[in-house]
Amino acid sequence: MVKICCIGAGYVGGPTMAVIALKCPSVEVAVVDISVPRITAWNSDQLPIYEPGLDEVVKQCRGKNLFFSTDVEKHVFEADIVFVSVNTPTKTRGLGAGKAADLTYWESAARMIADVSKSDKIVVEKSTVPVKTAEAIEKILTHNSKGIKYQILSNPEFLAEGTAIQDLFNPDRVLIGGRQTAEGLKAIQALKDVYAHWVPEENIITTNLWSAELSKLAANAFLAQRISSVNAMSALCEATGADVAEVSYAVGKDTRIGPKFLNSSVGFGGSCFQKDILNLVYICECNGLPEVAEYWKQVIKINDYQKNRFVNRIVASMFNTVANKKVAILGFAFKKDTGDTRETPAIDVCKGLLGDKAQLSIYDPQVTEDQIQRDLSMNKFDWDHPLHLQPMSPTTVKQVHCVWDAYEATKDSHAVCVLTEWDEFKNLDFQRIYDNMQKPAFFFDGRNIVDANKLREIGFIVYSIGKPLDAWLKDMPAIA
Ligand code: NAI
Repeated sequence: MVKICCIGAGYVGGPTMAVIALKCPSVEVAVVDISVPRITAWNSDQLPIYEPGLDEVVKQCRGKNLFFSTDVEKHVFEADIVFVSVNTPTKTRGLGAGKAADLTYWESAARMIADVSKSDKIVVEKSTVPVKTAEAIEKILTHNSKGIKYQILSNPEFLAEGTAIQDLFNPDRVLIGGRQTAEGLKAIQALKDVYAHWVPEENIITTNLWSAELSKLAANAFLAQRISSVNAMSALCEATGADVAEVSYAVGKDTRIGPKFLNSSVGFGGSCFQKDILNLVYICECNGLPEVAEYWKQVIKINDYQKNRFVNRIVASMFNTVANKKVAILGFAFKKDTGDTRETPAIDVCKGLLGDKAQLSIYDPQVTEDQIQRDLSMNKFDWDHPLHLQPMSPTTVKQVHCVWDAYEATKDSHAVCVLTEWDEFKNLDFQRIYDNMQKPAFFFDGRNIVDANKLREIGFIVYSIGKPLDAWLKDMPAIA
């Protein structure tokens, strides 16, 4: 029986290994983590992450060929293939702070593998890492040269949160990079054999190590770039009277462009896009390519611009102040169908409104008050550093109240802001919401999910990103 161990039981390690266990009954999979609460949750009925379909997959395999454990060393020692899926956040201090990837967690995992291993192993980079990381990992693994042979593979993960299980069941492609030596090719084949249990061979791409490492950064940069491109267009649409939905539909019909990832919004979020682009920018700078670095940096600048623009639009339309006004925030997660708030645009929007002294009433179906308070009192880039490694005591933001119902959040409010596209927000009783709000009642749709005209008929003043503006909003221009 092939034994797999995955270091890091997070958003990637947990679902990925659960699907491997489900699809490969002949493989024993152990997912290990230094976080005791995370492993305890994986072994309970309340999994540590919300992901549609995940519960069923875990229930089917847990205790059979899928195990969650804090005994990291034991499982690494026993494994033939070790995946490393630890977090690779943006460095907060020192050389490259604010841009470079922090490989502290990766390095400590690699050192531990080197220390406990007594047999040859394939070590798989599952985390998103800077190109050429495999070279550094190889050096760490062989530093005390016990005669053990390691093959490093790069197998970046392309799943998207919210659809992780579907993405893992039917991946557009699986990418495996390795050394182009006899041993390297053998290792690539061994990993290919695992995925071949359910992924068609033509969808398993093999490359050299550096192409695989760079492809992941490139894919995230391209995806984020599409969002920033359409968001940049949304500002021009508002200025000209064009409708961004019509523009993206027309643009996306071109088969060379395609329709996906062309929705305008308050901005992209999530743990990956910003961090991976910053990392790409840093790598370009380190390789003497400032023009290329500047090009990709612009994707992040437009994203920040879009979030600021949204806040400015809110404040400007509400008589240039939201001080002491109750503003309802519907949705805090960075996208629907996940409870993940890492780098969610809601953080920047809420901080912007709090800066203008608003009183926020926040509702998200999957995010706890504790998490929201922590996010709003945390410094930028601190979010991806596990709490057990970087203890901190969040101070409660007094202007923030979290409630468990959209109607409670909006009651007596001056404005409603939709910041996550949860399906349940599309079909709220907007008449009831309007009746219980202060007047004029404002509605700022950061995800373009409501029927703005219906809301206008009820009496709301509505702002939808990239859509022709209400007369009210035209009279109250936002200066971004
Ligand atoms: P995460 O923060 O949810 O999980 C990482 C886990 O690793 C944490 O539970 C942490 O306790 C554990 N860990 C850290 N150091 C450890 C060590 N030395 N030994 C044992 N456990 C350790 O992170 P997530 O979201 O799963 O991301 C992991 C990697 O995958 C990152 O590089 C990310 O960029 C990449 N990725 C993330 C995607 C996503 O949608 N979240 C998608 C594709 C890639």
